[in-house]
Amino acid sequence: MKRDLKKIVSQMTLEEKAGMCSGLDFWHLKHVERLGIPEVMVSDGPHGLRKQDDKGDHLGMNDSIKAVCFPPAALSACSFDRKLMEEMGKTIGKEAQANDVSIVLGPAVNIKRSPLCGRNFEYYSEDPYLAGEIAAAFINGVQSQHVGTSIKHFAVNNQEYHRMSNSSEADERTLREIYFPAFETAVKKAQPYTFMCSYNQINGTFASENKWLLTDVLRGDWGFKGYVMSDWGAVNDRVKGLEAGLELEMPSSNGVNDALIVQAVKDGSLKEDILDQAVERILRIIFEYADNRAPQEFTMEKDHEEARHIAEESMVLLKNDEQILPLKASEKIAFIGGFAKKPRFQGGGSSHINCFKITNALDSVPSDAQVTYAEGFPADKNLYDDALAAEAIKTAAAADKVVIFAGLPDSFESEGYDRSHMRLPECQNRLIAEILKVQPNTVIVLHNGSPVEMPWLNDIKGLLEAYLGGQAGGTAVANILYGKVNPSGKLAETIPLKLSDNPSYLNFGGGEKVEYREGVFVGYRYYDTKEMGVAYPFGYGLSYTTFACSDLKISNENPTDKDTITVLVDVTNTGNMAGKEVVQLYVKDCTSSAIRPEKELKGFEKVFLNPGETKTVTMELDKRSFAWYNTELHDWFAASGEYKLLVGTSSRDIHLEGRIHLNSSQELPMHVHMNTTLGELFRNPKTSETAKELTAKYISAMNVGEESSSEAVSEAITEEMTEAMTDSMPLRALVSFGGYSREELTEIIEKLNKLV
Ligand code: BGC
Repeated sequence: MKRDLKKIVSQMTLEEKAGMCSGLDFWHLKHVERLGIPEVMVSDGPHGLRKQDDKGDHLGMNDSIKAVCFPPAALSACSFDRKLMEEMGKTIGKEAQANDVSIVLGPAVNIKRSPLCGRNFEYYSEDPYLAGEIAAAFINGVQSQHVGTSIKHFAVNNQEYHRMSNSSEADERTLREIYFPAFETAVKKAQPYTFMCSYNQINGTFASENKWLLTDVLRGDWGFKGYVMSDWGAVNDRVKGLEAGLELEMPSSNGVNDALIVQAVKDGSLKEDILDQAVERILRIIFEYADNRAPQEFTMEKDHEEARHIAEESMVLLKNDEQILPLKASEKIAFIGGFAKKPRFQGGGSSHINCFKITNALDSVPSDAQVTYAEGFPADKNLYDDALAAEAIKTAAAADKVVIFAGLPDSFESEGYDRSHMRLPECQNRLIAEILKVQPNTVIVLHNGSPVEMPWLNDIKGLLEAYLGGQAGGTAVANILYGKVNPSGKLAETIPLKLSDNPSYLNFGGGEKVEYREGVFVGYRYYDTKEMGVAYPFGYGLSYTTFACSDLKISNENPTDKDTITVLVDVTNTGNMAGKEVVQLYVKDCTSSAIRPEKELKGFEKVFLNPGETKTVTMELDKRSFAWYNTELHDWFAASGEYKLLVGTSSRDIHLEGRIHLNSSQELPMHVHMNTTLGELFRNPKTSETAKELTAKYISAMNVGEESSSEAVSEAITEEMTEAMTDSMPLRALVSFGGYSREELTEIIEKLNKLV
């Protein structure tokens, strides 16, 4: 139905309009009955519904309706599967539609800058391309059901410490290349109904009143059409926020901020047009939902099975020495650790789902499996219990193989605070060490929202990173352990050897300003450029079968920056079990136009293959795949020159390499001045002739009296040295070294500036 929103807005009183810009309560927007504006509800997710019928809160303290808990983002991103994420979104959209929820508050796409961030379990990746692709797919899925999303937390909200006040201090290139693209991709590929601005400040301005962020970048550069809501309590100065582009304040300010808006319009400090525009944007989204209500039916049982499937497609097999996995029903297996019975499968805080059922690994093993169980350690605290440990060691020694269900207790990671270290509880590491003394055939299953240090890594034979698997995660673990499912997840983040290896280590957490000094070198962009050892690289994950990549084809090896290039790769299942591989395409910039990471992910595709089968995978690259953000141009810049295309199965497992030569139509702006160097002039074709002339004069001036130089001096003056000195010679120095007057130089500079 086409509605005349401008007309509706014109019929509203000033008070009604101001009221529309904040919540009615914790979860509802206001309604205006006489104008047919309905009351709509928003609810947390995003990995399921947290619809609070009764008492509202944003910390997950009060109960919500029974729902299905899908795998949180830290796990689902490891699927590297756009289709799967779209399906997950669709299902959650249907549940929301059936439950009268107009907007699901998510996805959360903040970049995992440090393993310590308390909310990493809610975030997808350290890589902006992956996070953006996964988010866009999820959003498209939810919104296909005419239910909105609220992509969050915009932006640069990468820690929990003082999250409501601290300032994330990062340069623009870093923001544009690392912290923004997931949001940008979501806008361009999925146009989320709403954005949720973050609590923090960005370079000293609250996100909730940051015009550059909420209007210039979000609407101007990317073309966002929906409305922006605040994170719960993120508003600092309401009127400033409205002017900056924050349409909706959540939750209700109990009328306090509405009154400030009314007052500002009345005293002329806020233009009524701005308020009208905000209301119109909010109404458009309200009606988008209200006018497209479709009766939905869903069964939680069916969605539970989907949650299991997503978990199975996402868990990452990291180690499988001597093919210790899959387990066989004929083997005597000991399951150790409380997580086998009571898995940790979601994190704490606003995303906490009230599950209608939870399955565990112990009860999900095949009916003929021979499994004994010992608790080993208390799963909720760091306490080495001698009796529990002794029983576990005995059980482990008596088995053929042991699976230890380790992981982080709830208190170790949550919304609201960051971790202070990257270790498992000491009691778990100690028990693992004890068990390894009696049982070499040991597999570890990890339940954690963010990586842990693994001091026992070299001594175990198998490792399954289950992350937080959602309510059906226990079954997914059992199905993978027993080979009912062939694992195909890949790490969406690097697992460093130790916390201090992380690039943000020296600048994370404390203080009111958090300086993002590592710049664009986040995650593998840092580890790979520094050639550092890691426990497991980004993109890594094993399967019960093997794959080979071959026959890399590039559609155009001499593209311009307007072209789209197609990259084709053959993938073959070389083992004897059906399985899925994720082919990853990284780009390495060899042009030296800027300091850039060793490689950056620019494409991926997941493919299913039967044993012996080969399929061709297709990925596309365009200018943006090669570009970096140039703050002088205020635009993405891909320099002319050579780029390597690296095809692999992790950032460290590159199997095929190709090259392209890009012919860019972009030119970097140049302004010639007294401190422009001869080298800079040489590198610009428009100024290189003049550079030659200036250099010739400078060289001949410097060579005066050459014959008189001693042999030792001539030897010391190498060609390399002369070249380097010339390259970095500023024009002003030609007064002393080239025989030019200041006036002559000023004239030359004027001429050059006309050429460039
Ligand atoms: C969180 C958001 C959440 C909101 C509503 C805030 O504390 O940061 O992610 O959507 O509460 O519960």
